[in-house]
Amino acid sequence: SIRRQRQMCIRDRITDAPKFKWRGMHLDVCRHFFPKEFVKKYIDYLAMYKMNTFHWHLTDDQGWRIEIKKYPKLTEIGAWRNGSMLGHYTEERFDSLKYGGFYTQEDIKELIAYAAERHITVVPEIELPGHAQAAIAAYPQLSCTGNSIEVAKGWGVFDDVFCPKDETFTFLEDVLSEVIVLFPSEYIHIGGDECPKTRWKECKSCQSVIKKNGLKDEDGLQSYFIRRIEKFVNSKGRKIIGWDEILEGGLAPNAAVMSWRGIEGGISAAKQKHYVVMTPGSHCYFDHYQGEPKNEPLGIGGFTPVEKVYAYQPIPKELSASESKYILGAQGNLWTEYINDPQHVEYMALPR
Ligand code: ACM
Ligand code: ZN
Repeated sequence: SIRRQRQMCIRDRITDAPKFKWRGMHLDVCRHFFPKEFVKKYIDYLAMYKMNTFHWHLTDDQGWRIEIKKYPKLTEIGAWRNGSMLGHYTEERFDSLKYGGFYTQEDIKELIAYAAERHITVVPEIELPGHAQAAIAAYPQLSCTGNSIEVAKGWGVFDDVFCPKDETFTFLEDVLSEVIVLFPSEYIHIGGDECPKTRWKECKSCQSVIKKNGLKDEDGLQSYFIRRIEKFVNSKGRKIIGWDEILEGGLAPNAAVMSWRGIEGGISAAKQKHYVVMTPGSHCYFDHYQGEPKNEPLGIGGFTPVEKVYAYQPIPKELSASESKYILGAQGNLWTEYINDPQHVEYMALPR
């Protein structure tokens, strides 16, 4: 009867809460740029699926996408490239069309507010010391050679990275200061992945920093770089998170780690009592194929169907109960080398 149903409703309560604090989705807006209106739609999807963190990958070799008032060339020059790759990167084919775009600080405030209304925290990523070619195209003095280079057209990992000299730290601290004023997130993502040491090995200034600070080698220099940035970010009351390469040469004292090259980085960080977000390529890279490549739009590779993603358990079995507490949660990453329109983003993100 209706009466009996009412009583049931009163007696039987459902208590529900998310298991993980960090339920993230990432979007790369550097390889391809997505307009503000679509980023809002993406945030709507995250809210619909009860995700609470949007990791916004804002700077990379192929484009700098965030207005920084103190360094206008970052977007005047760094937000534009003179061509893009066609087909798979192994084909080495390019067009010569000017491509780019960026978000003004007003756009960013609007998006952060939009996300907050939907209980989503926006975590910005400012890549350092690698994946910095667009910044160096705008300000060549930030590299080891000082040579003029262009914003990257192709996908990959590039040798011209930030040179760890005082001028570079002043620049990065200025940039991060503006970023921290804009973004209220507890964490600021500082990248840290895929930084070749080619230039550092041949740079007088880099070698003198290694010597002066008693560092072992270029991995030690990467660790020094991240620690110095961490100290600054911590001084502003925020924490850093970085890709698992920040473990190399020793983790900065308060850094959280995003484990992407498998789960080993996450295990190692948790054992060292550092917080971790699990994003292993095997389960969390949504630029991978989700069907037979011949039936799918061109992608980077891999095979990550929805069943695999859904079955993923973020806590590695190698961790004890007390170590498991350091796993903040998991995140899906959407790199966009092969994804250049909103419909394709939706196709790759959903339903995974
Ligand atoms: C990454 O996929 N390079 C973090
Ligand atoms: Zn250098």
